[in-house]
Amino acid sequence: MHFPAIGDFYKRLLFLLPFATEMPPEDRRFSYEAPMQWQYLYPQCGGVDQSPVPLNAQKVIPIGLPPLHFGLYDEPFDELLNVRNNGHTVEFSVPTTVYGERPYITGGLLEDFYEAMAVHFHWGSAQQKGSEHLLNGRRYDLEMHIVHRNTKYQSDEEARNQTDGLAVLAVLFKVVRTNYIYYQPGFTEILGSLLHVGEFNSSYTPAAFLTLGSLLGGLDRGNFYAYKGSLTTPPCSPAVLWHVFAEVLPISHLELPKFWQLRNRYGRPLLNNFRPLQSLERRQVFLRRPLEEYLWS
Ligand SMILES: *[C@@H]1O[C@H](CO)[C@@H](O)[C@H](O)[C@H]1NC(C)=O
Ligand SMILES: *[C@@H]1O[C@H](CO)[C@@H](O)[C@H](O)[C@H]1NC(C)=O
Ligand SMILES: [Zn+2]
Repeated sequence: MHFPAIGDFYKRLLFLLPFATEMPPEDRRFSYEAPMQWQYLYPQCGGVDQSPVPLNAQKVIPIGLPPLHFGLYDEPFDELLNVRNNGHTVEFSVPTTVYGERPYITGGLLEDFYEAMAVHFHWGSAQQKGSEHLLNGRRYDLEMHIVHRNTKYQSDEEARNQTDGLAVLAVLFKVVRTNYIYYQPGFTEILGSLLHVGEFNSSYTPAAFLTLGSLLGGLDRGNFYAYKGSLTTPPCSPAVLWHVFAEVLPISHLELPKFWQLRNRYGRPLLNNFRPLQSLERRQVFLRRPLEEYLWS
């Protein structure tokens, strides 16, 4: 008797399952238990310029990248946030600010203006750290992504089709044995929402008018890695100019476990929602450091 290779079996099984690429992005079904299978439904997941990658200060090109410029990041939103469990992560759409526009970034690797669209997180479990990018060989506990779209494109679909369509800012967090962390008020509000969004598709509105910058607290915004990569979830479009901050922010050991009690659409724990490392191949990683470090090192 002949048994087909297990890879073929999975391939056929996946095509029989009722998920399709026409689904709106929030309904895309994929599993972190089999990320190597994503490419059978989403071919770009097996294609070029994939993320995440390991970032290493010894293997970068320390060119004079311009700093990132943060527009409207410190202006309050004109409406409350709606924090939602979409079955893969907890996320919220970025509202417009009181000036009528969304916060935006430019600078770094970006030649255009990119407006902030959504924020979400990747985490591990009690056994496993869950950042997507590695810094100098270390995986951290949590990673926050602020997804921005190039303002010259009209829709997410159009932006995903372009190599300069999206810009993601990534912030890594490391657990500390402190009970309260005072200087990230926005981030604290998001953490406070987690216990309300345990079930799939549930959402919660924190009763505070926040700024996008308040998620970053006192982060050193001038010191970051940058490279060309992709979305780290299907459809894995190679459309992202990544900027990963070199400073790792603290998260209390009392707060991190709140991520672990979220559940997916099947009612199972939503854990370890990070994609495995992808090959950097010939891509270059840039590191921008404050000027003093060049002068004194
Ligand atoms: C994206 O690219 C595909 C293939 O090139 C094309 O068929 C589709 O119309 C494009 N979509 C948008 C919104 O530009
Ligand atoms: C999620 O909830 C909204 C209403 O809160 C509902 O309209 C929508 O159909 C739900 N989606 C899923 C996939 O259950
Ligand atoms: Zn992400």
